Formats: sequence, C-alpha cells, structure tokens
Amino acid sequence: MSKYLIANWKMNLPPEGVESYLANIGGADPRDVTMVVAPPYPFLRHVVECGGVSVAAQNCSDQPSGAFTGEVSPSMLRECGADSVILGHSERRNLFHETDAVIARKLALAITTGLRPILCIGEDLRVRDTGGVSRFLADQLKTAAIDTLEDAPEIIIAYEPIWAIGTGRVASGTLVAETLVEIRNALARFWPSRFAKAPILYGGSVTPDNVADLVEHGTIDGFLVGGASLDARKFLAIHAGMR
Ligand code: PGA
Repeated sequence: MSKYLIANWKMNLPPEGVESYLANIGGADPRDVTMVVAPPYPFLRHVVECGGVSVAAQNCSDQPSGAFTGEVSPSMLRECGADSVILGHSERRNLFHETDAVIARKLALAITTGLRPILCIGEDLRVRDTGGVSRFLADQLKTAAIDTLEDAPEIIIAYEPIWAIGTGRVASGTLVAETLVEIRNALARFWPSRFAKAPILYGGSVTPDNVADLVEHGTIDGFLVGGASLDARKFLAIHAGMR
C-alpha cells in the first residue's frame, strides 16, 4: 500500500524559501512514500511548477462557482495543478466553524472535480478523557459517507487528535495504533468495502524525534505534518524515519 508524507504549511512559508525547500526535499529517495506539499493558495501553482512533489490545497469551497467572496473552488485548484485537497482539518472545523455537513459537501465536490480528498478526523481532549473517542470518530466518518464516495479513486484519512496539533503533545504510538483499529472498524461499518484499506495517516506534533515510536506498530500509512514540515531537514528526517 502506498504511504504518504504530507507537509501542511498552513498560513506559513518555509523560511529558506519555497524553491530551496523543494529542491532540498526533492533530493530524497522517495522509496514507497508519496511526498505531498500543501502550500497556501497563492503558492500552489509555483509549487506545482517547481515539481518533484504531489501538491495539495489546504481547503476548498463547498460550491462549484458563484458569488462567494474569498472562496476558491475545487476546479480552480485543479487548474492550478493541485491533485489533492485537505478537508475537515480541525482548524477549519474549530476556527472557521465548518460543520460535518459542510465538510461532506466539500468532499462531494472534490470527488466530482477529481481532487484526491485528505479527510481529517480527530477528537478533542474532552472526548479523549471521557472515553468517547471510538463513537466520535465513527460519527465523523459516518457523516462523510456520502453517496459519491464510490467515485473517488482514493481517499486518504488523516487521524489528527486536536489535543496533539501544534501543542507539542504527541499521541503515543500505542494510542495511535489502538485508535486506528477503531477507525478501520468504523470504515468497515459505514464506508464502501473498497475503502477498508484506505490509507490512514497520523498528524499532530510529528517530529523526527517521535516518528520511530509512531511507526513501530506498523499500522500508520504516513503523516500529516504541520510545524515540523516548514523545515526541509526535519521533514526529510521524518521521511527517513518512515521505514
Ligand atoms: P502540527 O500540525 O504537526 O504542527 O501539530 C499538524 C496538522 O495540523 O496537520
């Protein structure tokens, strides 16, 4: 199964500059890992033109076109050369109030437009501490189980516990492995059977220091990396740790 390593730059750029960053990570032997860079919208085309990586947008509109000031449609992203789109990131859900229904609409539109969705799910600390993780994640996947899922050649799931994003508090490899079992169970229940083996990534304060613990259980299909992805050396060290 293919593995993915995704750099989510969020609203940042690598301090060394986009071209130098891409030249640095482009030198890595990809092995069986697809490297994906998700820059802010205005830099999508530039990253595509530099080449060497797969390119994802960080978000898209839930509408195909029209009077939606400030929005960007999935077809515009395709035109810029993006092949994937991150959907349902917790920062979108929490800071921009995206509901499961909005995310389901974005998912449907991304699929019809031919963008590979990278669907983020994950619980907050209250849910984790009160033992409701399995149900919470199952509900998120259930609301994303739209009719057109079958039309998507591939959908990547990113398990990103909110309490571990940008906090420096990483989930242990054991906890992630246990949670991935719950996610696979929910996929089997609510999604078409061909997604039983959909790639499931982990995201949340991944660094070169904790990647070994995370990969030890052998069940994670890659990582969605925020902070550490802005430094090409750190991103390459995470890649090297994905053996
Ligand atoms: P982080 O972000 O690696 O900075 O925790 C991950 C993400 O938000 O995708």
